[in-house]
Formats: sequence, C-alpha cells, structure tokens
Amino acid sequence: MVREADIDRIVSTMSLEEKARFLVGVGLPGWFGNPHSRVPGAAGETHPIERLSIPTIVLADGPAGLRINPIREGDERRFHATAFPVAVMLASTWNRDILEAVGRAIGEEAREYGVDIILAPAMNIHRNPLCGRSFEYYSEDPILTGEMAAAFVKGIQSQGVGACLKHFAANDQETNRMIIDTIVSERALREIHLRGFEIAVKKSKPWVVMSAYNKLNGVYCSQNRWLLTEVLRREWGFDGFVVSDWYAGDDPVEQMKAGNDLIMPGKAYQIDSKRGDEVEEIVRAVRDGRLSLEILDRNVRNILRVIVDSPSFRGYRYSDMPNLDEHTNIAYEAGAEGVILLKNDGALPIRLDARVAVFGTGQIETVKGGTGSGDTHPRYVVSIIDGLRGSGLLIDEELAEVYRRYVACMRGRDEYLVRMGLLAGSAAPSLPQDFLSEEEVEKIADRNSVAVFVLSRISGEGYDRKLEKGDFYLSDDERSLLERISRAFHRSGGKVVVVLNIGSPIEVVSWRDLVDGILLVWQAGQETGRIVADTLIGRINPSGKLPVTFPIDYDDVPSWSFPGEPKDNPQKVVYEEGIYVGYRYYDTFGVDPAYEFGYGLSYTRFEYRGLELERIGEAIKIAFEVENVGGYPGKEVAQVYVKAPKGRIDKPFQELKGFHKTRLLKPGEVERVELELDLRSLASFDGWGWLLDKGEYEVRVGSSSRDIRLIGRFTIEEERRYNP
Ligand code: BGC
Repeated sequence: MVREADIDRIVSTMSLEEKARFLVGVGLPGWFGNPHSRVPGAAGETHPIERLSIPTIVLADGPAGLRINPIREGDERRFHATAFPVAVMLASTWNRDILEAVGRAIGEEAREYGVDIILAPAMNIHRNPLCGRSFEYYSEDPILTGEMAAAFVKGIQSQGVGACLKHFAANDQETNRMIIDTIVSERALREIHLRGFEIAVKKSKPWVVMSAYNKLNGVYCSQNRWLLTEVLRREWGFDGFVVSDWYAGDDPVEQMKAGNDLIMPGKAYQIDSKRGDEVEEIVRAVRDGRLSLEILDRNVRNILRVIVDSPSFRGYRYSDMPNLDEHTNIAYEAGAEGVILLKNDGALPIRLDARVAVFGTGQIETVKGGTGSGDTHPRYVVSIIDGLRGSGLLIDEELAEVYRRYVACMRGRDEYLVRMGLLAGSAAPSLPQDFLSEEEVEKIADRNSVAVFVLSRISGEGYDRKLEKGDFYLSDDERSLLERISRAFHRSGGKVVVVLNIGSPIEVVSWRDLVDGILLVWQAGQETGRIVADTLIGRINPSGKLPVTFPIDYDDVPSWSFPGEPKDNPQKVVYEEGIYVGYRYYDTFGVDPAYEFGYGLSYTRFEYRGLELERIGEAIKIAFEVENVGGYPGKEVAQVYVKAPKGRIDKPFQELKGFHKTRLLKPGEVERVELELDLRSLASFDGWGWLLDKGEYEVRVGSSSRDIRLIGRFTIEEERRYNP
C-alpha cells in the first residue's frame, strides 16, 4: 500500500517541469498528431512519470455506459460496451440498488477495458426542459439526484475504478456553455444546484469531481476557489482530485490556485494559440512568483493519491472481455423499472391475442440514448419493432414492411444498416411521419385492435433543444398522423397507445386526449425494444415515477431566463427562479402541471396506511405501510415530502426529503417502510448557514408530489443553526 509518506517522497523528487506536466493531460487522444489513447475512444490520459514508475491513467466517458471506440485499426476484435438506459430513466426507477448495479456493471467494463476513471455520473439539475443534455442528468430535484448519484458511484468504485461527478456546478444548458456566466444566489446554489453533489461526495466518496465549463457568478467554475476549495474540500471533505471539463476556463494558473488539480485534455494551444500551453504557463508562473510551489505540490498530491489506487498503477491486467452478456440483463432490469405509465384508459396491458399496428419511424430508428460524450457503442440496439416481434404479439407485418421500406428509402442507405439499428442513436434528422393516407390508416384500423405510435426525440451535447414543432411540440406531420390513427381506431373500437422515446419532457396536453395510453420509455439503451414490448404486454408492470415535471406548456416553466441574455448570443443567465425549480415552483405558486413530479401509474393500485412519526435524537423516524390492493404484482415508489413552517425565510410548499421503492408486492402483499430524516436535512440556507425554523413540520407521504396519502406532524421547539 502506498502511504502519505510515500506520496511526499515522490513529490519531493519531482522537478518543476515534471510537476507541471503531471497537472495537465496529454492532449485529446487521436487529435493534433497526439498518439491514440491506450484505450481508443477514451476521453483523456494523464502524463506518466516513467522515472518514478507512475503510469498514465485513462479517463473515459459515461454516464449511459462506457464510451470507447468499438473498432480498432488492425484489430479484428470488437470493443463494445453496454448501452444502459439514460440517467433520467435511471432516476425514474427511484431505486438505489439498480443504480448501484448499473454502476458496478459500467465499472467492470471500464476495468476490463483498461480504463481507470469513468467520467460519470452527470448531475446537473433539470432547470429547463430544453437543456440538450437533460437525458444525461437525473432530476429537477437535488435529493433524488444526490441519492441516485451516490448509489451509482458506489457501484462503479466497488470495481476498483474511479467515478467522476460532473459538471460542478450550475451547468444546466448547452447554449454558449463554455463562456456563459451563471448568476445564482447562494441559497439556490446551496439548496438546489450544489445539494446533489454534496450528498454524493459525502455518501460515496468519489475519486474525482469535474469542474464545469461555465462561470459561476462571474468566475469560471474551474477557476473558482470558493467552489472547488472552500465548499468542495473544506466544507464537504472531498479528498479526491478535481479535473477541468475539456478545454474549460481561460487561465491555467487560476485553475491551479482554485484547486482544479488536473487540466484536461491538455495542449489547448493546439486549438487556441492565444491560450498558450498550460504546462509552460504553469512553469513560468512558478518561476516569476505568480504561483507557489505549495499549491503545485498540493495539486500533484491530490492526483497522486487517486492514481496509486488505480488499476493502471496496480498493474491490473485487463482482459478486454467484460461480461457483456450479464450486463444485458442489468440494462434490461434498469429499464424495466424506469418505464413510466403516464396515461391508461383501459388500453394497457395489451392482450396477447390483440392485433397490433405499429406506427412511427421510431419503431425502427429507436433512440437508445443521446448524442455527444454521453453516447455509447453497444453490440446492438433492440428496436421497438423487433422487441414487439419477440414478445408474442400479433404485429401487423404488412405495415411494418411499409415502415421498413420507407425508412430505408428515405435514409437512402443500405436497408440492412437501418434494420441492424446502426442508425439508432445517431442524430439524423427525424423523418416526416405523415405518409399514410386517411384510407390507408382506416384499412389498418379495420384489421387491428391496437395502434402503437412511437414518438422519438434525440438531443445531446453542444446544443439545446428547440421550442419548436418537431422538438418540444409535435410536428405537424406527427400531429396529423396521430389524429388519423385516433379517428380510425376509435371508430372501430380500437385503442391507441403512444410510446414516448424521448430524453426530456415534450408538450403533451394538446394531444393526449386523442389517445388511450401513454408510455414514457425514455431512451432505454440497447434493450429498449424488449423493455417497451414487455411493458406493453404486462410482463413488466410500470413502476417508474417522474423525476421531472411535465409542464402544461413551456410558458409555465419557471426558468424564464433560459438560455440567457442577450437572446441571440447569451453571455449571462440569471437564475431568477432561485430555489423555485421544478415542482418547488409549481406547488408553491399554484401552477398545474401536465404530469407532476413523482407521478407514474401502474397496472395495479397501492394503498398507504399507518403513518408513525418518532423523534429519535437528531432525526425523525418515519414508518408506514404500503399494500398492493390491485390485481397485478407491482412495485411502488413511496415518496416523503416535508412542508416546513413559514419562518424567517420563504420556503417552497413542500420538498422531497426521502423515498423508498418497495420490493415486488403480490396482490394483497404489504411492505412496512421505515426511513429516517436528519433534522439538518430539513433546514434552509439563509445566507449565513443552514437554519431549521421552529414550528410545526408536516410530513406528507404519497405516491406522487400531488397524490399525498398520509400526513403527520411534528414540532421543532427551538430554532437551530448548522454550519455549512
Ligand atoms: C463534456 C464532458 C465530457 C468531456 C470528455 C466534455 O465536452 O462536457 O461531459 O466528460 O467532454 O469527453
């Protein structure tokens, strides 16, 4: 084991140039003449110090799976990694065990492919539904975000590789992400935008944290000493290293001083001559007294402490053969628990003897996840049509063939590629949906009893989504096809089900009355088709709940300032909504959502009873029972909200403070749920510290934020204060 004394010894033998090099990555692998990474497709590597037997370590992306190149020059083998459901879908499970299992699987794949650190989880807050990377982030709620991330990190790190929380912090949009100045109050930061990171740092001890691109109240996150040193290290006790996001910030010396230990990917001068070479600049700054050696040594130590635990340092002999078959099951199970049933007027589950017509090109070009660094390269993607074919349902093959030909012809590519799903996940523009006439749809309705319409959306790094038809709204052709389907199937007594294959909310209110069922399947990774089919036929009973509000319309969204000012080229975005993000806003200001936070139907029903509250020292113990009173086995996400008394500062109407997902309960089965809330977790940030107001607190237990089943109360006699 390498001890602190050994680390001191290593640092003491390093020259200034060696230290500076060690603090900067080797350059973007494969670009600008840099050699390919040891693991092709990985995002970055550190400099080795051969003289001291310190190897490079390899950092590769997530969070939906390990992102490396599947194909290597001159190598016949394939290096695929599992595509898991996207983060927003993992959060929809509300199941820590699942997050941990997915983390373990990704950790094993990383280790077996020679990767030391996975650049995941991504934990920014769903501040606005148009953020292009929302699919990579968990939730609009910081508690759910933090709990999901902590479990995921635990899973990853149990495999002997490191996790990296990103993007720290308040990087909630893609528009001008590298320069945007996020202006946000300390209260909103502490309660909303930092809270998830705080939970994950304290609960799961991540090896690495990635500072974000944006400025935070005027200072780049990667150059922000308050954020990286005061809050992250001093207050929360983080003891790993901080890495910059790729090409973030504009001053390597300020990054060093702020506590941004590692600059990635390195060699920025190759893309921007004005910025210079970070290594030379760091050496120069130490020589002319602008940067102290103590700071350099501190940062080197932070990185070294992590490296000595890495597989590369330990000389781990990786196999290049992770257990992809086993991980297929984990990807399936995770998706199975993240599917959310938004609407069901007797349409679902579909009987196995029903005849089913599948509409929408998303049945073939099924979107497994978003684009950019959060993409993955799995062995295959099960499209929705193939999933349905494997389910035993009677699919209208004539219609399926029409779609197959249409997609193949419109894409102008080899049909084989399309069918193999090789287009899935690419950001190819969506195809016009409205190519079936009224008469054709009527004929299809005559020979089928159920219509399934797949609506897909894709987005990703670098761009925000658009407040336009075809993105946030249905396109005209999607709408007209849906109307046609609705008319024809309802005339013949059939049912219409929409499958939403999307990464973040779209507008639903203007069309939901046209259909009998809506299944939100997000972007469920490589097993999407199987997951959709099994849910439609009831082999999976939906148990996912919304980690983000679906607003009635965009005008209701409280983050009016998104994506900042001036509108044509935003430089600054002011978080005017403060702490009133997501349901905290809708509930407090009486705005009805389309589907509220925590919402999700099931094929069965659950009853809640017997709420007991007990004060035990500095915690409140909460206990109650959940019974499956319907006819299907199912799981329920029991949510605990707390309404704090109006004290000296404003409070949201209620806030999520705890949750529990039951085991699979058979009809008639009961589970007793017990959880404990720390009093400190109920406090609000008032500018100086965390304040727990005195007065009566309401504990609200329910099946969603607006379906509260049990209420209990307790009193705090004396106001309390906690240090940050
Ligand atoms: C993204 C990060 C990613 C990094 C390395 C950046 O552009 O913002 O999330 O980890 O690239 O690929």
